[in-house]
Amino acid sequence: MTSEYLWYANRATGAVSLILFTVVVLLGIAVRLRTRLPGLPRFGTVSLHRTLSLSAAVFLALHIALAVLDSYVGITLTDVLVPFVSDYHPLWLGLGTVALDLVLAVLVTSLLRARLGHRAWRATHWLAYGSWPIALVHGIGIGTDTGTDWMTWLTVACTAAVLTAGGIRVAHSARASRRTPASLLRTAEGARS
Ligand code: HEM
Repeated sequence: MTSEYLWYANRATGAVSLILFTVVVLLGIAVRLRTRLPGLPRFGTVSLHRTLSLSAAVFLALHIALAVLDSYVGITLTDVLVPFVSDYHPLWLGLGTVALDLVLAVLVTSLLRARLGHRAWRATHWLAYGSWPIALVHGIGIGTDTGTDWMTWLTVACTAAVLTAGGIRVAHSARASRRTPASLLRTAEGARS
């Protein structure tokens, strides 16, 4: 099956997936930093992070299904899961596949979190930071809309947002690790006196 509508819908769902994954990464950082979002109760940030990750997964599934349905590009189910084997833009599509594999690992371990335990879940959750830039480069490399004003602004806005939030996250961790030895010392001294 091939039609212009499939192609437009594939591009649109790709852009929406990028926006949703960006917001999910931002909310993940907000959860980690215990940020309370305006107008939401304390647990609201966690719920929003969870709900939007599932919405992002749905849009990503649509994006991929539309790419496979469009026989013009000849993308197979193997190309969807195994990176760099596709005849269609093997490098750029392969990066999309790597991003998908990482997202799947994060999703599955999050759904099994209670069984896996916190440490294993958290270790896998770090993959989310890797999947986001890989997906971004996939979109820039393969997208028809790359170079249009709206796509350039979208890419710049998403990148700026993730870099800013990532910077705040790193600064926060650095501050916390500087504070920890001193506070441990104070606790130990307090216990001695
Ligand atoms: C987290 C994973 C992914 C994200 C966030 C993502 C996002 C994007 C974005 C933003 C574009 C550019 C759309 C445009 O220029 O309008 C794009 C293009 C595309 N993506 Fe993905 N993608 C992902 C994974 C995949 C996977 C696994 C496949 C299929 C195996 C795929 C197939 C395609 C195709 C065929 C295009 C080109 C559409 C065109 O002709 O412009 N993507 N994707």
